[in-house]
Amino acid sequence: MKVAPSLLSCDFAKMGEEVVRVDKAGADLIHLDVMDGHFVPNITIGPAIVSAVRPYTKLPFDVHLMIDHPIDYIDAFADAGADIITFHVEAKSDIDAAIKKISDRGVKPGLVIKPNTPASAVFPYLDKLYMVLVMTVEPGFGGQSFMADMMPKITELKAECQKRGLDVLIEVDGGISEKTVSVAAAAEADICVSGTGVFKAKDAAAAIELLHKA
Ligand code: DX5
Ligand code: ZN
Repeated sequence: MKVAPSLLSCDFAKMGEEVVRVDKAGADLIHLDVMDGHFVPNITIGPAIVSAVRPYTKLPFDVHLMIDHPIDYIDAFADAGADIITFHVEAKSDIDAAIKKISDRGVKPGLVIKPNTPASAVFPYLDKLYMVLVMTVEPGFGGQSFMADMMPKITELKAECQKRGLDVLIEVDGGISEKTVSVAAAAEADICVSGTGVFKAKDAAAAIELLHKA
């Protein structure tokens, strides 16, 4: 399983150094959580911060947009150095148009589903997607408990992709640590996001290794 540490749990005053720390510790991607205070109650980072930390690593930037109008910010995050942009199927933008805009910018597009959204909500778009992100907490905050009951969605998505001959990566996000990762691994998730589990661990490299091995 690939590991994408979420910067939401890092020391925000040292974000560049924190990126270097998890890069050296074996991260595969860097997960950046963008929140607008509307789609979710929290406010985090915007394109200026993504751009500021971009020079600190060559790892792909996996930008998770938790905002009402993702289509309006795709150019800004592409310019800032995003490699993957995921946005919520529950957001207010035209989904096909937003996926096209991401792809046209040479960025890999993904859709995200909240816990109450069925896997089938992304089926109409699967053939245009690089990734589907299955939330295992309600989006908005780090440090919440992993929802194991989301795993059937991964199985459903994998089965649908296989049926259609598609190779779409499945990422899980929320409450992933060495204690919960085996459940996501058993469901055959490809990438796990981990904020608290990596940044608050005593030893980030050891934490990432345990996630890798799951
Ligand atoms: C939640 C974010 C997650 C969050 C995960 O809305 O999408 O990426 O940082 O944090 P942990 O791993 O602490 O649950
Ligand atoms: Zn996230």
